[in-house]
Amino acid sequence: MSDEAQAYKQAYSREKAARLEAEQLLDDKSRELFLKNQQLEASNKQLKEQHSALMRSEKMATLGTLSAGVAHEINNPLAFVYSNLGSLNGYVASYQKLLQLAQSWQDNEQLSASQTEQLRQLIETEDLAFISEDIIGLLADSQEGLDRMKDIVQNLRRFAHSQETGWEDVNLIEGLESTLKILNSQLKNTVIVDKHFEALPPVPGKANELNQTFLNIIVNACHAMKDTERPQLRIETGVAGNEVLIKITDNGCGMEEEVIQSLFDPFFTTKPVGEGTGMGMSISYSIIKDHQGRLQVASKPGIGTRFDIYLPLERNENTVSDSF
Ligand SMILES: Nc1ncnc2c1ncn2[C@@H]1O[C@H](COP(=O)(O)OP(=O)(O)O)[C@@H](O)[C@H]1O
Ligand SMILES: [Mg+2]
Repeated sequence: MSDEAQAYKQAYSREKAARLEAEQLLDDKSRELFLKNQQLEASNKQLKEQHSALMRSEKMATLGTLSAGVAHEINNPLAFVYSNLGSLNGYVASYQKLLQLAQSWQDNEQLSASQTEQLRQLIETEDLAFISEDIIGLLADSQEGLDRMKDIVQNLRRFAHSQETGWEDVNLIEGLESTLKILNSQLKNTVIVDKHFEALPPVPGKANELNQTFLNIIVNACHAMKDTERPQLRIETGVAGNEVLIKITDNGCGMEEEVIQSLFDPFFTTKPVGEGTGMGMSISYSIIKDHQGRLQVASKPGIGTRFDIYLPLERNENTVSDSF
């Protein structure tokens, strides 16, 4: 072999070795990449599962707040309707005695003196004059109690809207009203609720999710106003351009700058264990984002907090939502 051919052969095999090495490297790298991708997919799936578990636990906490309020609201009318029915039962027995007597005499042309006396005695011992008066009040009270319970149940159904999963035209004021009714027992007697509702056009959305957001914000406001002397909750609605705006203001403890910074982070809470899940605001934020809206906050320690919810009047179907 000539020197030239020898050199060529050497160069060729060097090049071949380098190529093989490069191919091997590429092979290793793509295998590595493939494995990394698989790991990423697995952790993404795990993250999604954890997220939905969290949503569930926050839903359970919301459900706890709701059930406590509803039980409290229903308990009182339930107790008096129950007791009224007890009285009415006794009254019916007295009326039956009167009816029996009247029936036994229905064919008499005239009552004897002793029969008239018997009738007078029955009316007196059974206190039928009182019963006749009392019965009207008892029935009216019971009717009112049942109306109250019906109202609570209706509000709960309107609030929960649980079956609806798709987009619909949402009446936000109705949502705010039923949320306030549901929270009545938490607000009653202490918190002054100032409603400044300007009529709103229907907004495309998921009623149950928007109601959950209102609930989360109002419950937080109640917690924040625990030590406020004259707790006041102001709720305003209005239309601004192509958006509706809902402002919820409290005069509670307010927030320091670093609390505001972390407010929407999952698990962020300043409340003791068992009292706060730290998920309310993070979920509310993603709900409003999912509605292509904005959730903004302004707060001053010792003064209070205002949440501004902006929701578009029309949904842009071309925007891909990145919330999972
Ligand atoms: N209206 C408010 N006033 C003062 N602080 C608030 C208010 N709303 C929320 N916060 C603060 O934000 C934190 C996170 O709220 P949230 O996500 O609802 O979780 P949680 O209520 O379970 O603590 C609260 O712990 C509280 O410190
Ligand atoms: Mg909360």
